[in-house]
Amino acid sequence: MRKKVVAGNWKMNMDYTSGITLFSEIINMVNDEVRGDQEVIVCSPFIHLHGLSQYTKDTGKVSIGAQNCHQEASGAYTGEISAGMIKSVGASYVILGHSERRQYFGETNELLAKKADAAITNGLNPIFCVGETLEERNSEKHFEVIKQQLNEGIFHLPANDFSKVIIAYEPVWAIGTGVTASKEQAQEIHAFIRTQIAEKYDTSVAENTSILYGGSCNPKNASELFAQKDIDGGLIGGASLKSRDFTDIIKAFNN
Ligand code: PGA
Repeated sequence: MRKKVVAGNWKMNMDYTSGITLFSEIINMVNDEVRGDQEVIVCSPFIHLHGLSQYTKDTGKVSIGAQNCHQEASGAYTGEISAGMIKSVGASYVILGHSERRQYFGETNELLAKKADAAITNGLNPIFCVGETLEERNSEKHFEVIKQQLNEGIFHLPANDFSKVIIAYEPVWAIGTGVTASKEQAQEIHAFIRTQIAEKYDTSVAENTSILYGGSCNPKNASELFAQKDIDGGLIGGASLKSRDFTDIIKAFNN
């Protein structure tokens, strides 16, 4: 059975102290209020990870992750952070291929494939993002774009490594805009992604892969999105910066 997952993506928000405060609130609320076997992940800026890991020791319920890693193991790459370094501070996930990385930092599918390898080699589970722009959707290229992102960015992994991957469908036009994909639009793409996984690997791998929706997901729309057959949770930006909203989104599984 695939896992139900809610992952927060803090992006470049929160100084160290505010991040620690937010995280301790999240831990407390999740411990007190969230039942069941959902997996909760917080992807913070790099500088918070070691501090956050001090809090995750006492609870099995919340994991931490980074939002990017470098593709090389080490070396003269000033300002970069390797997958091994992220792992060494207690993180277990890394977001790869977020549309902001693709758009502002020129990350290509080819580069992302190398980052995925680095993550897997170092024991980090990638949260691999795919999604089309508004222009691509309007010109009916969304299926094609997503298929290419999967094929070139992550489908090179052998099945046993792919089983560690979470896929996030994030339509670029829905990220941070307040415009959410409808449950029908999201379900259609999630089902398409699952079919692609089944064709590349097999149905058992496809059935076991968690596919998250991201893009203006909030406590109000989370339950109807999460109720869709192929939507296994969410990757949450803005609403992950408020402990109450984030926890209410996690609780949406039970509604
Ligand atoms: P949002 O961001 O929830 O603020 O739209 C989602 C994301 O970028 O992961």
